[in-house]
Amino acid sequence: MAGVTDRPFRKLCKALGAGYAVSEMVTSRRDLWDSLKTSRRANHDGEAAPIAVQIAGTEAQMMADAARYNIERGAQIIDINMGCPAKKVCNKWAGSALMQDEVLAIEIVSAVVQACQPHGVPVTLKMRTGWAQHAKNARSLALAAQEAGVAMLTIHGRTREQGYKGFAEHDTVADIKSRVSIPVVANGDVNSPQAAKAVLAATGADAVMVGRAAQGRPWIFREMAHYLASGELLAPPTPQELQQWMLAHLREHHELYGEFTGVRSGRKHLGWYAQSLPSGDVLRRHVNTLTDAHTQLQAVSDYFEAWASEQLHTLPAMWGVRAASEARNPNTAELAELAESAA
Ligand SMILES: Cc1cc2nc3c(=O)[nH]c(=O)nc-3n(C[C@H](O)[C@H](O)[C@H](O)COP(=O)(O)O)c2cc1C
Repeated sequence: MAGVTDRPFRKLCKALGAGYAVSEMVTSRRDLWDSLKTSRRANHDGEAAPIAVQIAGTEAQMMADAARYNIERGAQIIDINMGCPAKKVCNKWAGSALMQDEVLAIEIVSAVVQACQPHGVPVTLKMRTGWAQHAKNARSLALAAQEAGVAMLTIHGRTREQGYKGFAEHDTVADIKSRVSIPVVANGDVNSPQAAKAVLAATGADAVMVGRAAQGRPWIFREMAHYLASGELLAPPTPQELQQWMLAHLREHHELYGEFTGVRSGRKHLGWYAQSLPSGDVLRRHVNTLTDAHTQLQAVSDYFEAWASEQLHTLPAMWGVRAASEARNPNTAELAELAESAA
């Protein structure tokens, strides 16, 4: 997931029970490979195997080159993106837009498979159920991809047209699973241990892939693994565990992005964590005002210290932030000021 599954987050997910985690998509545009963004995405220092890198692009040769570039940097599995609905990607006929042109899609798959074969690197494909309700071609694409040498398929149970709206359907996954011999992964709205079990049972899929539900909750993987193995729900993590994971996550995040960017993009992850923490909005509001790594880490430590000593109610005054319950809507003058400053 672009902007989410960077190396620090993948490492944490794997440590907390994910059997597999795929990189953010890496562009096939060679002119962008030296950019900071791409070089960070292609960095797998300290990551546990298997290292899976997703590539996105529109031209077979460029995608083959991108596969080789990432293999040289440690990729052990190459995943092709035919699932992303983002305009930035689709306008260039990449991501899920490729599903509209099966000939081009398979040309890309074949070129990437050929580039990976000499290195013994399997190629996987991530797609949606189709471009639109009237054009649900995941089945024919899945069969053609298998024929072209794809080793595993992941299917998000929505069309491109749906974006993230409504609910994912998994009937298409079940249908494809019954027709191909390669492993199939079901994706879309798998957001609890019970959902994981139900989707596996309904589809016969070999695995489930979790996206948004892991944001701010990477321990969902151990919860799912435990439930699938035992039928019992795992106790929630302790505050001590949460503190340890969040601080380790933040430290590695700062290290990968550097202090300026890391502190700012770290707020996004803290905001997700905060959603399931008591008085989490106070922590979120406070960290959004901080601009250096030390105080961001300190805020997390202070939060957990206050929690341990049952002093969470003192945080708003200590940090000078309003709790959500105390917050009021801005008045007209303040709204005008906000609009002005955002313009
Ligand atoms: C912020 C965000 C970024 C995403 N980036 C990618 C991406 O780079 N490649 C991809 O295949 N899917 C991407 N996706 C789609 C997810 O992998 C997944 O298919 C989708 O969110 C449905 O699964 P979920 O309901 O478990 O979140 C992204 C989704 C989100 C919300």
